[in-house]
Amino acid sequence: MALSAPGLDPCSFRGLFFFQLLLLLLSPTTTMGSGPGPMPRVKYYAGDGRRALSFFHQAGLQDFDTLLLSGDGNTLYVGAREAILALNIQDPGVPRLKNMISWPASDRKKSECALKKKSNETQCFNFIRVLVSFNETHLYACGTFAFSPACTFIGLQDSHLLPILEDKVIEGKGQSPFDPAHKHTAVLVDGMLYSGTMNNFLGSEPILMRTLGSQPVLKTDTFLRWLHPDASFVAAIPSTQVVYFFFEETASEFDFFERLHTSRVARVCKNDVGGEKLLQKKWTTFLKAQLLCAQEGQLPFNVIRHAVLLPAEAPSVPRVYAVFTSQWQVGGTRSSAVCAFSLTDIERVFKGKYKELNKETSRWTTYRGRETDPRPGSCSVGPSSDKALTFMKDHFLMDEQVVGAPLLVKSGVEYTRLAVETAQGLDGQSHLVLYLGTSTGSLHKAVMSGSRSAYLVEEIQIFPDPEPVHNLQLAPAQGAIFAGFSGGVWKVPRANCSVYESCVDCVLARDPHCAWDLESRTCRLLSNPNLRIWKQDMERGNPEWACAPGPMGRSHRPQSRPQLIKEVLVVPNSILELPCPHMSALASYRWSHGKAAIPETSSAVYNGSLLLLPHDGVGGLYQCVATENGFSYPVVSYWVDSQDQPLAMDPELAGIPRERVEVPLTRVGGAAIAAQRSYWPHFLVVTVLLALVLSGALIILLASPLGALRARGKVQGCGSLPPGEKAPLSREQHQQPPKEHRTSASDVDVDNNHLGTEVA
Ligand SMILES: *[C@@H]1O[C@H](CO)[C@@H](O)[C@H](O)[C@H]1NC(C)=O
Ligand SMILES: *[C@@H]1O[C@H](CO)[C@@H](O)[C@H](O)[C@H]1NC(C)=O
Ligand SMILES: *[C@@H]1O[C@H](CO)[C@@H](O)[C@H](O)[C@H]1NC(C)=O
Ligand SMILES: *[C@@H]1O[C@H](CO)[C@@H](O)[C@H](O)[C@H]1NC(C)=O
Repeated sequence: MALSAPGLDPCSFRGLFFFQLLLLLLSPTTTMGSGPGPMPRVKYYAGDGRRALSFFHQAGLQDFDTLLLSGDGNTLYVGAREAILALNIQDPGVPRLKNMISWPASDRKKSECALKKKSNETQCFNFIRVLVSFNETHLYACGTFAFSPACTFIGLQDSHLLPILEDKVIEGKGQSPFDPAHKHTAVLVDGMLYSGTMNNFLGSEPILMRTLGSQPVLKTDTFLRWLHPDASFVAAIPSTQVVYFFFEETASEFDFFERLHTSRVARVCKNDVGGEKLLQKKWTTFLKAQLLCAQEGQLPFNVIRHAVLLPAEAPSVPRVYAVFTSQWQVGGTRSSAVCAFSLTDIERVFKGKYKELNKETSRWTTYRGRETDPRPGSCSVGPSSDKALTFMKDHFLMDEQVVGAPLLVKSGVEYTRLAVETAQGLDGQSHLVLYLGTSTGSLHKAVMSGSRSAYLVEEIQIFPDPEPVHNLQLAPAQGAIFAGFSGGVWKVPRANCSVYESCVDCVLARDPHCAWDLESRTCRLLSNPNLRIWKQDMERGNPEWACAPGPMGRSHRPQSRPQLIKEVLVVPNSILELPCPHMSALASYRWSHGKAAIPETSSAVYNGSLLLLPHDGVGGLYQCVATENGFSYPVVSYWVDSQDQPLAMDPELAGIPRERVEVPLTRVGGAAIAAQRSYWPHFLVVTVLLALVLSGALIILLASPLGALRARGKVQGCGSLPPGEKAPLSREQHQQPPKEHRTSASDVDVDNNHLGTEVA
């Protein structure tokens, strides 16, 4: 405490007093974790210039719900509300409109829809739900058409859309949902559309259907109850012989006191033509099984939200990647998981035992009886195999579950959508990259290296306002991913390697798309792997190894010397604020003062910045040191000097470029403190604390009559609060939501951040 700050008058001990309070309250800096699971290493808020996204929108249009990439990858077709657009995405930058066609629901359907008590403002429109490439010259599209689904072919000319002829619009029941809020899925295979959706106005009759093409139209039989009335389809994935459907429904095979959701995979054979006598125009090869995505010791992630197939080159097996959330909330937040299912596992379960319903006990048990030949539900069942068809009417649920491998489990986040690709790293290894859309409109880029669990390279808030990500479309040729939402379409480049300014940062990021170019000394997008002079370490993320200069094996700490020293001049009566950008959420940051620790009595760390109270011997080197993945490096280095007594620069620092910088100051002077507006947060903390401490002290001191005298003397001695400070304080109290109860010290920091953005 023994400080002799030059130029501080006697009453300025209060500056020091505040300072100690700051120190008490603010250190250690509180970090807001978003719960267990990997943290995104870097987080970008909407509009962050470091992750500039291109945005397409069109006046008068909304709900850009459906995306389709053209075969050549240069056109993005977009299904919006009552319109379909063709966007040119060939050129870098903002997607350009090629042309658009309107496809509104008819006035008659709109008025009928309004009569049925649906909103003519939000629901009675044609929301495009299906958009597939039918052949070289035609797209096929379906929409909700004001709660009366309709479909049509759309001609293409030079990847421009030709207008829709009204007489070419056909009924689309079973292909598009009635209600835009209902889930659906559709995939075109061999000229036939396999769709899973709700088949009625009320949304109580799910259906799996095959239409188009030369084969007969096939449906699930509602009466047989192969699907629970609330079945909700999220994906359809074709394989060689079968088409898989992924959905969620209430499980009837478990005795449970509450409505238990379960995730399913169902499959139908492509060669199914329906039964001859039995099951006419109905699927004869429908089977379903439970999908399990769980982590040991946790409630299962039982609600599937989306699934995609990543085709694999032989010899590895193609895998389906799916995002799940849980029906249950723990601590008010939902958790999500990504699980991988191998197609071999799925096939094996469909070849296994069946479950059957015991009609007397209403319980599902394993079927242990004889199996007929051909095996019921298999693709070799013919239309006249009556025995097999009779059997499969009641034996459509498989006994075994398909168990997935959890690749990523994250609480506090609800993943709604995913896209998957592989990226080849410098080492020639293939790395799995998952783009995960959340319920609040952000995108997580997750990477799997080897067999370890996934890590999150970054989180980008794409949508300006929170809104679930409903679609993601990768465009590999453009190196970008597209996401449509209520207001338009965002184009998100796979990576912006330039944000990693040093080799250390570039390597620590472990982004398979980025590598450090030793020649240009920049972190660059990896376009042509095998570049010897580029550096990357996907396996370990170890910059010590990857960024070492010269021949490998020289144990040289690459970045322990700062690259640049920022020179700062001490200003009397002012608290110096030395900022330190916290780029990585995975790093821990600390400040060092030359070889010693920072002087604790005259400094504090607030929001990552080092606050320094000037005093004798304050000068010297201050470094903000990050430690990540076991590697420490200086993020920023300051040389603090005073005009009166310039300090000789450490000879060890010779040769390092220097730059004179201005840092934020908080003035401490006279009987009052003049805080600059942007330093309200610090200032307010001080004020709140002072009020707290003074009232606390008052209570204690007033308890003893002797102390009361002394207390009065002290409080009067160094003045009361300046009047200007009261307004923001009372405003803060006003703004607090009444329900929230803030008690812990760390909350003050949060409050302050909030208030800081309000005031500044
Ligand atoms: C990439 O990051 C750099 C450095 O932060 C920034 O200047 C640039 O605008 C960014 N580019 C994009 C496309 O986000
Ligand atoms: C919806 O219906 C109401 C009352 O029938 C009408 O006033 C309103 O203009 C309609 N809105 C639209 C967008 O058609
Ligand atoms: C594509 O499909 C449409 C609609 O069935 C048909 O009219 C057209 O002739 C087909 N074009 C080709 C090239 O097969
Ligand atoms: C915390 O520091 C960052 C930069 O380091 C700055 O952008 C932000 O405004 C600071 N927040 C407060 C409340 O001072």
